[in-house]
Amino acid sequence: MIKVLAAFCVLALSGLTNADTHARKLYNLVKTKHSRESPEFDPWSVIDDSTTDEDSPIFIGPQEGLAELDKISELPGQPEGVDFNQYSGYVTVNQDAGRALFYYFVESPKDSSNKPLVLWLNGGPGCSSLFGAMTELGPFRINSDAKTLFRNKYAWSNVANVLFLECPAGVGFSYSNTTSDYDHPGDKKTADDSYIFLINWLERFPQYKTHDFYITGESYAGHYVPQLAYTILRNNKKTKENVINIKGIAIGNAWIDDEACTRGMFDYWWSHALNSDETHDSIFKYCNFVNDSSSSKCHDSARKAWGELGKINVYNIYAPICLNHEETVSNSRSSNGSIDFFDPCWEDILVSYLSDSAVQKAFHARPTSWDVCREYIPIWNDSAVSILPILKYLIENGQRVWVFSGDTDARVPITSSRYAINIMNLPIEKAWQPWYLNEEVGGYLEEYKGLLLITIRGAGHSVPSFQPLRAFVDVYIVPSRDNPCSLPLHVKPI
Ligand SMILES: *[C@@H]1O[C@H](CO)[C@@H](O)[C@H](O)[C@H]1NC(C)=O
Ligand SMILES: *[C@@H]1O[C@H](CO)[C@@H](O)[C@H](O)[C@H]1NC(C)=O
Ligand SMILES: *[C@@H]1O[C@H](CO)[C@@H](O)[C@H](O)[C@H]1NC(C)=O
Ligand SMILES: *[C@@H]1O[C@H](CO)[C@@H](O)[C@H](O)[C@H]1NC(C)=O
Repeated sequence: MIKVLAAFCVLALSGLTNADTHARKLYNLVKTKHSRESPEFDPWSVIDDSTTDEDSPIFIGPQEGLAELDKISELPGQPEGVDFNQYSGYVTVNQDAGRALFYYFVESPKDSSNKPLVLWLNGGPGCSSLFGAMTELGPFRINSDAKTLFRNKYAWSNVANVLFLECPAGVGFSYSNTTSDYDHPGDKKTADDSYIFLINWLERFPQYKTHDFYITGESYAGHYVPQLAYTILRNNKKTKENVINIKGIAIGNAWIDDEACTRGMFDYWWSHALNSDETHDSIFKYCNFVNDSSSSKCHDSARKAWGELGKINVYNIYAPICLNHEETVSNSRSSNGSIDFFDPCWEDILVSYLSDSAVQKAFHARPTSWDVCREYIPIWNDSAVSILPILKYLIENGQRVWVFSGDTDARVPITSSRYAINIMNLPIEKAWQPWYLNEEVGGYLEEYKGLLLITIRGAGHSVPSFQPLRAFVDVYIVPSRDNPCSLPLHVKPI
């Protein structure tokens, strides 16, 4: 999910498929960004190891015995034969404020002690990673009755121990007892709190301290993931200790550069028959994608472009949309537990399941009116204009960087990723080529020095929702890619 802050980068919830809604919100968003322009707006723009951060000690709370308390005995509606451990609960990240972040942790069913630890983050800003857990890569999907679960046979927990984090406070079940904490969230606060969360979580689950650690996520997590990795590396350097054993990141349909991503979005719309020549031309004539000093003609053109999309799912232009929200959560449309059928009304189903008090209790969550995303756009304090300097830093510091992309997403499309990567001007080590799954092209990949670009054919914005097997293969090569050439070209479905 992406609700980006730059001009043209419109609040966009997956369920809101009406382009008119987007267009109206666009104008408000553009206005808010204008009013927040200031030189100190981008705390991520300077990256220099010689600068020292102010030394605020990391809060570490007592964690002993909490893991056992966090163990989930059973989720309502879960199927028989669950053969893995799952945990969830809160980790306090600021005791004075009473701020705590909610997590859900899924251990790999087999041999978990030899598998990496993977943190998954959804984007927004302001969206819950539980939507990744329950509709994308987690061990369960929710049936259309919104009451029962079925196993996701392509769960990423088959190959890794997967941690889902709701951040910042105010998102999902995460909260703060100091309500002013909700007033000015931003990239920096999110990274800092997520870091404190991780340090404390690893005290709660100390057996994972030595595991290889990867961070992955999609959409606006194209900010969260690299920024958190950067924060970890900086702190590892400061303490001269591998406090967190980070090895790499993977970001999907990720918003990593305002200019490139915006340009890539409009080019995708035109090249996929969603916009007219005239509208496309006028956007490129009147808009300045670098900053928001664009003319009203630009805003009019952008509004027109959104309008021309019509009623489609901008996150997967070929997918059906949810036509009847009222009828959704009933037994009348049973999906019968098929991982290959992604219910277009997933958002209603997810909200209904996670709003159930028995479900919240089983998750050890405080009674909450849970929602997929929190509206943060007008108050988001800082949003880096470009994440490319951080990606460069990660590469230079030996981190593996994967950029993956579902190629039917029109919100943060493959063109956006390509334009952004092109700005980095990295040498190509392996030319663009198809990768295969069961004798068929699963997508394409291109290996740059320090960065792998990989597409997932036929997948939308939330890649594992639409192409669970291809997404699984994609991630499967992540933790084991010591040799960049050793792609498993004929992976058997498990
Ligand atoms: C928030 O306040 C409640 C009620 O006083 C308390 O039970 C809870 O522990 C507080 N949360 C944190 C993180 O301190
Ligand atoms: C935004 O964040 C910066 C850096 O954390 C902070 O100095 C500033 O006060 C924040 N602004 C607001 C309006 O909260
Ligand atoms: C915005 O971008 C244009 C074109 O790149 C540039 O001339 C102008 O100075 C920029 N404005 C601000 C406020 O950065
Ligand atoms: C699900 O199963 C029920 C009962 O077997 C059947 O009536 C219904 O058509 C099935 N739905 C789908 C979407 O396959």
